[in-house]
Amino acid sequence: MKFLRPKLARHSRLLLAIAFALSPISGHASGNGIPEIVPGETWHDTDGHFINAHGGGILFHNGVYYWYGEAKSGHTVLPDCNKSWGGTRVDLTGVSCYCSTNLYDWKSEGLVLRAVPDDPENDLHPSRVLERPKVIYNHTEKEFVMWMHIDSADYSKARAGVAVSTNPKGPFQYLGSFRPDAGVWPENATSEDRKAGSTNALARDVQGGQMARDLTVFVDDDGKAYLFYASEENATMHVSLLTDDYRHTAGKYTRIFIGRSMEAPAVFKRAGKYYLIASGCTAWEPNAARLATADSIFGTWHELPNPCVGDNADKTFLSQSTFVLPVAGRENFFVFLADRWNQWDLPQSRYIWLPLEFDAKGVPKLRWHQKWQLPPGVAALQAHR
Ligand code: GAL
Repeated sequence: MKFLRPKLARHSRLLLAIAFALSPISGHASGNGIPEIVPGETWHDTDGHFINAHGGGILFHNGVYYWYGEAKSGHTVLPDCNKSWGGTRVDLTGVSCYCSTNLYDWKSEGLVLRAVPDDPENDLHPSRVLERPKVIYNHTEKEFVMWMHIDSADYSKARAGVAVSTNPKGPFQYLGSFRPDAGVWPENATSEDRKAGSTNALARDVQGGQMARDLTVFVDDDGKAYLFYASEENATMHVSLLTDDYRHTAGKYTRIFIGRSMEAPAVFKRAGKYYLIASGCTAWEPNAARLATADSIFGTWHELPNPCVGDNADKTFLSQSTFVLPVAGRENFFVFLADRWNQWDLPQSRYIWLPLEFDAKGVPKLRWHQKWQLPPGVAALQAHR
């Protein structure tokens, strides 16, 4: 026995070490086994790999949450064409998908939309840009529709891309990319807006369609869906109605936050009001979050102060918005999802998830939490129809 004890102890220490290494610790289960969200920490999937879903969004469908995001892997480089503004990149890999029923434990479903390496002209060629994929479900067509920002490496194409699938786990079929609302003036265009001029990107692009970079999609209670996107050289955001099948813009749109240079939009609705959280335009560098609210989705949108409170509030806790998730069965519980970008090693970027608080007037606040828990019994809410 004398000899056995140290041997056994060593053995069990080894077993413990193996168990620790294999368990999805970081992120999301605390030492006592109670799951927690740990913003900014590494977050592993149920196979023990880092969750790789950046600039992402979550779809709730039939009791399951699907987290879609940019799969970022390989070396981060700074192409010459983006040197002036620090636009580092990795090759386009595709869109990843993870499934969960509790928002803590995520199972990888792999890539649901893949790069197309053998065709340099394809939007999905590794040399291109695919960012901020968001998926919504069309009840009429029984189809999952993915919207994403598609671009060339120098970000000059500025297009919206669409892919569809009958299964939330993919594979998604890529339909192509375009500039929204070609040939149509926005509903709120003034006579001044319609005058061509060297600084008028709106007028310049009316014929061919408006520029679309950072984007998101939002489905309203009546089933109508809308695309929010940074347009006009990122100076002004647009909100466009989608067609009933959600595959295209419908030719009805307004300009919002004119000249405010906002990107990374995340849109949600609470107690009949629309809210938008976004960022300023400083590439991968964090900046102060923008917050706005509206009674009608096309506006008027009213800006409110930065919702972040406390240390690093002026930098959105060193992150950039990507999505706001309404949590099931809790009318007033919304989770703010953001990316803490690692500009020089993009695959090492982290996720910041924080609960949104609302004051008596319904104004959202975001406070930093080292770690936090979802309300018990998180179940399904109509996050996105
Ligand atoms: C950010 C944008 C990201 C990505 C990045 C490139 O401002 O939100 O989605 O485009 O710039 O530097």
